[in-house]
This record gives sequence, structure tokens and C-alpha cells, in this order.
Amino acid sequence: MTLKTPQQTWEWGRALGAVLAAGDVVALCGPLGAGKTQAAKGIVAGLGSGAEVTSPTFTLVHEYRDGRLPVFHFDFYRHERPGAVLAAGWDDILDEPGVVVVEWADLFPDLLPAHARWFFLEALPDGSRHVKEGRPQ
Ligand SMILES: Nc1ncnc2c1ncn2[C@@H]1O[C@H](COP(=O)(O)OP(=O)(O)OP(=O)(O)O)[C@@H](O)[C@H]1O
Ligand SMILES: [Mg+2]
Repeated sequence: MTLKTPQQTWEWGRALGAVLAAGDVVALCGPLGAGKTQAAKGIVAGLGSGAEVTSPTFTLVHEYRDGRLPVFHFDFYRHERPGAVLAAGWDDILDEPGVVVVEWADLFPDLLPAHARWFFLEALPDGSRHVKEGRPQ
């Protein structure tokens, strides 16, 4: 699917968030600036949260609990080892009845459960974004 504007990326995420269920894990991949955080903002909104979503790059995980389901927003970028993710409570969070969204999930793909849904975003030459479902190679 082609997303022509940041608003369309947000809407794509919102539509996804609206149909997510407890236990779902969404893995967002793609190069720097592809639109992963923008999509995550839409996902959080689609789950009914009114929170201001910011990238958890420096804090590893942000939690949003004011929606239909709690959302745990991770960003694996800048974390050198999967151990840092585990230390942030990864296993306990996966056991929670919420939704987990992970930017840069492909950095530590083995941490993701088998049922995770993988999406790859990338910028096209005209500046729009392309998103497709599936694990990156
Ligand atoms: N469909 C789109 N068309 C044009 N610009 C977009 C689109 N979607 C998102 N953007 C813009 O791209 C920029 C980067 O988006 P974003 O921060 O979500 O990327 P990211 O993949 O999270 O980057 P990072 O890898 O640094 O975490 C933002 O300015 C955002 O508004
Ligand atoms: Mg980001």
C-alpha cells in the first residue's frame, strides 16, 4: 500500500490499531525515517488512547493505558543487545493482555513471538511511503 502523506501513515496505523486484540504484537521495520513512529502513533490512537505518542528511542518502552487495551511501544534502535530489551521487562510485557508495538524489531528478531505481525515501511523516490506485511529478508 502506498501512503502519500504522514496523515495517511497515521490513518493506516489507526485502522490496524482498531482491529488489534489482546496479545497481538506488531513489528515495524524499515530504514531511518520510514514512518514507523508515525504508524505507531496511529496504532495507539486506533486502540482508543488519546495520549501524545513519542518515540521511545531513549527509554526503550512507553506505555499507554488509557485506551481499549494497554499498548507497549518499544524501539530496539540504539540497544546493542537483546539483553537490554529483556531487562526492560520484555517477557512480562508479552504476558500482559495488551498490544506490543516494536520499532526496529528486525534488530532482534528472535525476541519476537511467532505470532507477531511484521510490517516493512520504506520511502519511495517521490517521498511517499510504501508499507507491506511480511518479515524483512
Ligand atoms: N507517508 C508519508 N509521506 C511522507 N512523509 C511521511 C510519511 N509517513 C511519515 N512521514 C514522515 O517521515 C518522517 C519520519 O517519520 P517517523 O519518525 O515515523 O520515522 P521512523 O521510521 O520512526 O524513523 P526512525 O527510524 O528514526 O525511528 C516524519 O517527518 C513523518 O511525518
Ligand atoms: Mg521511530
